[in-house]
Amino acid sequence: MKNKVVFFSSLPHDVESFNGLKNSFLDESVEFEFISKRLNQETVHLVHDSEIICVFVNDQLNKNILNTLKQKGLRLIVLRCAGYNNVDLDSAKALGISVLRVPAYSPHAVAEHAVAMMMCLNRKLHTAHKRTQDGNFSIDGLMGFDMVNKTAGIIGTGRIGLITAQILKGLGMRLLAYDPYCQEKLDFISYLSLDEVLGQSDILSLHCPLNQSTKHLINSVSLAKMKKGAMLINTSRGGVLDTQAVITALKSGQLASFGMDVYEKEDKYFHADHSAEILPDDELNLLKSFPNVLITSHQAFFTQEAVSNIASITLTNIKNFINKQAPELINVL
Ligand code: NAI
Repeated sequence: MKNKVVFFSSLPHDVESFNGLKNSFLDESVEFEFISKRLNQETVHLVHDSEIICVFVNDQLNKNILNTLKQKGLRLIVLRCAGYNNVDLDSAKALGISVLRVPAYSPHAVAEHAVAMMMCLNRKLHTAHKRTQDGNFSIDGLMGFDMVNKTAGIIGTGRIGLITAQILKGLGMRLLAYDPYCQEKLDFISYLSLDEVLGQSDILSLHCPLNQSTKHLINSVSLAKMKKGAMLINTSRGGVLDTQAVITALKSGQLASFGMDVYEKEDKYFHADHSAEILPDDELNLLKSFPNVLITSHQAFFTQEAVSNIASITLTNIKNFINKQAPELINVL
């Protein structure tokens, strides 16, 4: 079988960054095939003559798809992302398929995007921009609040959560956090129970991974425990919150604003142009219509530095595998 890497969900920046760095890591015998479609049951047939695929956040790697890939001779899945909630790791292990990822490429990129969302929602910059573009220079309804001395709650203080906390500390905010498995603690963050963090935070920012314990961590019960009129920011994974419960909390005013870079059903829409269509997803349609909701399309990672690091670390993962450095493979899941 040829040394071919099939890329799913590839966007123009993937083609550019991976082709641009290819010769620095791999020899000419390795071919790249870029497929813009997501990997799922309908597209898995596109893999042939390849032992390696490279996937992103919304490619589906469930048991059935992994079985099909195994039958096709697949040996390696390289994730060009940090999160791995879309991979059935137990099945991959049972089938002898290695799974490598990029554990960290620029936690700053995501943290800075989370803070950008907070500031935009607080000062209503998205609305102000629309108004001034329209020749409307009224500031009615655009009043925000000073972030200094307000309380931010960070759920998950790993790489991204800690940097988010550091940036917010720089703004003079009081920092609370909930993280039952936290490895590294900073002295200016007070670690409390989830309920305490929910009850005291003016801004709650989610930075935990999506897994069985965090699925719908933010739901109607936890939302009711939040300070009335708080802001919620989600740059982690859509499934960490119950979208319908968030809509209800926004309608009642329990939440004053909501910034979402990720969405439970984002695989159907994000990273593609659907502007000429009527979206069949009424939760997304409602959220789009709310003036106090800011939606970005899973772009928190998307900086020059992050894209370049993603390509070099992924290419190193592929190189190590091809060179059969299996016992020393890094970034293994
Ligand atoms: P990390 O592994 O460094 O940190 C995650 C933290 O969450 C850890 O400290 C862990 O102890 C904590 N945690 C685990 N379960 C928890 C729970 N039940 N409650 C509270 N905390 C819990 O991961 P990193 O690099 O900080 O990334 C966090 C998440 O951000 C990723 O899993 C990924 O889903 C998301 N992400 C989003 C991106 C975007 O473009 N929007 C880009 C990169 C990551």
